[in-house]
This record gives sequence, structure tokens and C-alpha cells, in this order.
Amino acid sequence: MRHIDGHVNERSDCVPGFPSERLERYLHRALTLPIRDTLIGALAHIERPGVASDLGCGPGKEVAELLRRGWRVEAVDAYEHMVQAARAAAIQVVGEQETSARLCCVHTPIARWAAPAHSLDLVHAGFSLPFVAAQDFAHVWKNIVAALKPGAIFAGQLFGHNDSFLSQSPAGSMNAHTHAQVMEVLVNFQVISMAEEERDGVVGIPGNEQAKHWHVFHIIARRAT
Ligand SMILES: C[S@@+](CC[C@H](N)C(=O)[O-])C[C@H]1O[C@@H](n2cnc3c(N)ncnc32)[C@H](O)[C@@H]1O
Repeated sequence: MRHIDGHVNERSDCVPGFPSERLERYLHRALTLPIRDTLIGALAHIERPGVASDLGCGPGKEVAELLRRGWRVEAVDAYEHMVQAARAAAIQVVGEQETSARLCCVHTPIARWAAPAHSLDLVHAGFSLPFVAAQDFAHVWKNIVAALKPGAIFAGQLFGHNDSFLSQSPAGSMNAHTHAQVMEVLVNFQVISMAEEERDGVVGIPGNEQAKHWHVFHIIARRAT
């Protein structure tokens, strides 16, 4: 890992579960999306700004929102242009000086991410953890739990087995859970909210859209003290 002006870089712009075509389709719609409800919901349960990690930060809307609210933020993504976009979004919202002081960009796959024990008040992982290879999920989750302070919050999504991305991805490149497995993952958490959503939708550029079946668990949970 190299540190360049607060930017940690581990070259790895290849995510088997989230190839660049999938990223491009997401990005086409990303600008029209509001800040993730799971993040906004989580923030309502936190008294004061602290230290957050945004795993799979994408173009950085949530990163910028956290900085705007006074947080220190680590923005993590496997695509270098995403951590750069997150940095640009941050500068637009809080300016260069605050961005340099409070944002650390980390270019790495989530499977190689870890943070010091009990160092984080919040982990946000918006539609990113499902793209961790199945064999890596357990240790990624262990790292998330270890990094959260007792009483800190996890906010993000996991996928269910019926999500159509799973059958369209190389075997083992993603992970999925049943409702019961999600509850097992959250065994050391107080669940603030957990909603299972299944619906048909689309991804992609209008005029060239692809059908997409979503099977998503939206989670806000507090690590036990
Ligand atoms: C669907 S986008 C979501 C972005 C943003 N978090 C949001 O909620 O809109 C998924 C993001 O996670 C990143 N990502 C997916 N799998 C990843 C992995 N295994 N390691 C690191 N980043 C990953 C992608 O590059 C992309 O920027």
C-alpha cells in the first residue's frame, strides 16, 4: 500500500463481482439517486459526528454528506476513479482544506480492507458488500465488526439469493444471504431496522436498459456494547 497525500493506493481496478460494465451502468443512474436512506436513517441514531468508513464509496455522495455533517471519513473503493470522484465530491461540498483534513481515500478491494479495532463510529456500505467474493465475506464482516466501537453503527445492504446479479456473475464472485443468515450475521448487533425488498426493476442507460430483479436486505444495526 502506498500513501500519497492522504490517498492510500493498492492497485486493483478489477472486481469479479462488480466489473467495469456493471459500474458504468450504476454510474449512469447514480447522479439521479438521493443520498442513501440507510445512511440518513443511521445518522438519526448517532448523537455527534465521529469517524466513519464508507466501503465501496462509489462517486462519493454519502462521503460528501458525512463530511458536510462534520465527520472524518475513510472512502474505500476498488476502482481508483471512484475514490478520485469521492474526493472531488467532497471538495465540492466542504472545500479543499476540510477535505484534506478529514478525508482519507483508500483504493483497495474491501476484502483487503481493515481498520484498527474499535476505531469507527460508523461503517456505511451502500450496495457494495454483495460484490465481495463469497469466500471472503466472513472475514470482511469480522473486520467490520472488529473496527466498530461498541455501540457504533453499521448501515448498508446485503443481497438475497434471488437477486438476478448472482446468476449473471462468475460463480463465487458475489455473496448472498437468506433472512435467517442475515440475522446470524447481525448476532452481535441490536437491529435498528432490517427490511427485505424483492422487486423487478432495470439497470442501465435509458433506451438500452436491462431487466434486473432486486433482492436486497437494507440494514441499520448497532454493535452491542
Ligand atoms: C453499486 S455501487 C454503490 C456506491 C455507493 N456506495 C452507493 O451506495 O451508491 C458499488 C460500489 O462499490 C464498489 N465495490 C464493489 N465491490 C467492491 C469490492 N469488492 N471492493 C471494493 N469496492 C467494491 C464499486 O466499485 C462501486 O463503486
